[in-house]
Amino acid sequence: MSSQPNPSKLLSRDALLAWRDGLRTAGKRLVVTNGVFDILHCGHVQYLEQARALGDELLVCLNGDEGVHKLKGPTRPINDQVARAAVLSGLACVSAVYIFDGVKATAALADAQPDVYVKGGDYTLDTLDREEYAVLQQAGSVCQFIPFVGNYSTTNTLRKIQGNSTNADNLGTAASWPPALNHLCNRRSIRAYQPRPVSRDLLTSLLQAAMAAPSACNCNPWRFLVLTEHEALTRLASCLPRAPFLPSASAAVIVCGDLEKAHAHSLSYLLQDCSAAMENLLLAASALNLGACWLGVHPVEERISAIREMFRLPENLIPVGAASIGWPAEEKPARTKFRDEDVTWNPPLS
Ligand SMILES: Cc1cc2nc3c(=O)[nH]c(=O)nc-3n(C[C@H](O)[C@H](O)[C@H](O)COP(=O)(O)O)c2cc1C
Repeated sequence: MSSQPNPSKLLSRDALLAWRDGLRTAGKRLVVTNGVFDILHCGHVQYLEQARALGDELLVCLNGDEGVHKLKGPTRPINDQVARAAVLSGLACVSAVYIFDGVKATAALADAQPDVYVKGGDYTLDTLDREEYAVLQQAGSVCQFIPFVGNYSTTNTLRKIQGNSTNADNLGTAASWPPALNHLCNRRSIRAYQPRPVSRDLLTSLLQAAMAAPSACNCNPWRFLVLTEHEALTRLASCLPRAPFLPSASAAVIVCGDLEKAHAHSLSYLLQDCSAAMENLLLAASALNLGACWLGVHPVEERISAIREMFRLPENLIPVGAASIGWPAEEKPARTKFRDEDVTWNPPLS
């Protein structure tokens, strides 16, 4: 037996075109999906089985290694394209695998002419890549979105592996770390993003999480400005010298506080409430496998006034901070900055 993987269902372009012709002649319905499928998990398998059930044959268009590198950052893929194709070939629900170059699947989809095109539930018709969508429309493909079940993802799997070892490293000897708290250590500032949009539904989930934060006397003085247009992101970046990466994000949320609504009209309470909301938003982004970074605004006067001017904000509305949001194109290990010396147990009473 050869030690090299030999993906039994991997097609060359010529073989793909011939196979496609054969299916058409036989009146068979072809389902197509595309993706990276790096570390295959049970969410992938359920997704692919459901995709296959929508037609007679399932073709997986697999991002080649260079494309994955560009999309997901220098540490990916973990498994090269031939190994990934071999694992997919082992699944009964997958009929064929085709590896495409570049970041977009446009050419592969044009060759495959799907009867049904399937993407994960984090996409909608509006957030499909426009070039890919144009090809699908031309082919008369029906687009279906299948939600990924559970919290499985290659990114989460990697985080679990990295997170467990990092937690052991820096939680010290006394601490035993409940896995339910892993999301807290997983949140890192992510400053590189994939060129694909984040749906309004996901952004709304982040806002719901933000507005679940505690607030002094429950005054909830926070107000949120949500930007999803590239021009607005670029304009905002010009107000924030420490956010040169912001134009590559899919969205930004500016967290503002209304001084008239804050407890005792106090700036300090306003800042505390808005910071709690911001942290909730960042934790929610991380839990949903999005990447986000806190961008400092308050108390830098030039940033505050530039944002105020940009959106013609009234005097009572104070921009506190912004968050850039997108699908991550970099990975960072989970960690805590726990240090024994930063903690005083039962400090002596005076
Ligand atoms: C108030 C505040 C302002 C920040 N401003 C920026 C910023 O303008 N640009 C940036 O890239 N990161 C900014 N950060 C993110 C920090 O640099 C980051 O949290 C820190 O380096 C720790 O890394 P981690 O978030 O990955 O744990 C800010 C964080 C906070 C809390």
